[in-house]
Amino acid sequence: MSIQPLQALPIEQLRRRRSVKWRAYPEDVLPLFVAETDYPLAPAVTRVLADAVALGDTGYTPYDPGIRDAYAGFARRRFGWELDPSGIRTTGDVIMGVVELLRRVVGPGDRVIVTPPVYPPFFEAVPEAGGVLEPVPLIETDAGFELDLLGVEAAFAGGARVILLCNPHNPTGTVHSAPALRELADIAAGFGAAVISDEIHAPLTRPGVTYTPFLAASATAARVGFAVTSASKAFNLAGLKCALIVTAHEDTAAVVRRLPYEVHLRTGLFGALAGVAAFSADSDAWLDSLIAAIGANQLLLAELLAEHLPAARFRIPDAGYLAWVDLSALGWGDDPGRRILAEARVALHRGPKFGEGGDGHVRINVGCAPEVLTDAVRRIGALL
Ligand SMILES: Cc1ncc(COP(=O)(O)O)c(C=O)c1O
Repeated sequence: MSIQPLQALPIEQLRRRRSVKWRAYPEDVLPLFVAETDYPLAPAVTRVLADAVALGDTGYTPYDPGIRDAYAGFARRRFGWELDPSGIRTTGDVIMGVVELLRRVVGPGDRVIVTPPVYPPFFEAVPEAGGVLEPVPLIETDAGFELDLLGVEAAFAGGARVILLCNPHNPTGTVHSAPALRELADIAAGFGAAVISDEIHAPLTRPGVTYTPFLAASATAARVGFAVTSASKAFNLAGLKCALIVTAHEDTAAVVRRLPYEVHLRTGLFGALAGVAAFSADSDAWLDSLIAAIGANQLLLAELLAEHLPAARFRIPDAGYLAWVDLSALGWGDDPGRRILAEARVALHRGPKFGEGGDGHVRINVGCAPEVLTDAVRRIGALL
């Protein structure tokens, strides 16, 4: 049976939202920048939040609000991964989790590998934790983007202590292969280094693509790795503040157990309640219909670009609703998003902010109605 794609809310309704996507720009701008989506919430999420509001259930988050078991169930159903829920802790959001882990595994001035072009807050998270950025850019091949494992090895050999992995990768949407993850784990282990894997986009892996959680890649990966994830991207819950720090080995679990209790207390109760509902089997059909809507929009984007911006280069991502588009052949300079905002009135994430490999690119958020995406690409094409 084919899955019905989820329908986005009408734009007039979305403009009443008060989140940053809808408040950062005036009304003549189409906002396709920040990673929020335009769909109605999953019904199980709406129910649990409505109940909490009706009850005035707005206090502190208990130590185990049920999200550890919910995530273990989700990982089993969606990734075929058996994980022990006792190795999971919660905090406010993925970047908080990344910063707290980095604080435990790097000393002042230690180098941390990042793989640009990459999610811009990584460039702030590393220095916030006292580390120094060591970029090892992804390699682009005819088949897509991949980790530069030789470059990573050289960086570890030169003294880097950690790699901050993004899997699936923002902005390219790359799902790293199991062999690449296993090799990365072996390299890190050889240097006594750690891997922190941001897996926030994993629930949105495209059908037909096999996603491997880093900790599930091998016994070595489980020993050297920490994962940080959340329901917040797939289920649009970023404002509710709940993320999971996941471990799968006694040594890494011990590191996480030593985090101050305050790190856990930053978890929002609404985020935890919504996360339990999101990760439960009740929300699987909704998630499948979201993935279908995103898949259709990624195909639509490819068609729209071919028609309105034929010099653009774009590859359908393996996961997620972000599209990494190379506009460098248009001659609009290193930062085409600037002109697109000023003249086409479409807000996109600007490529140079993603570090090396970002010049000439924009990141388009396709988590919107097909009509909105069509309007946006037509507006940009009209600049030619
Ligand atoms: C790779 C990646 N990590 C983290 C985040 C932010 O997550 P959080 O709001 O939980 O910090 C995003 C948001 O788009 C992201 O794309």
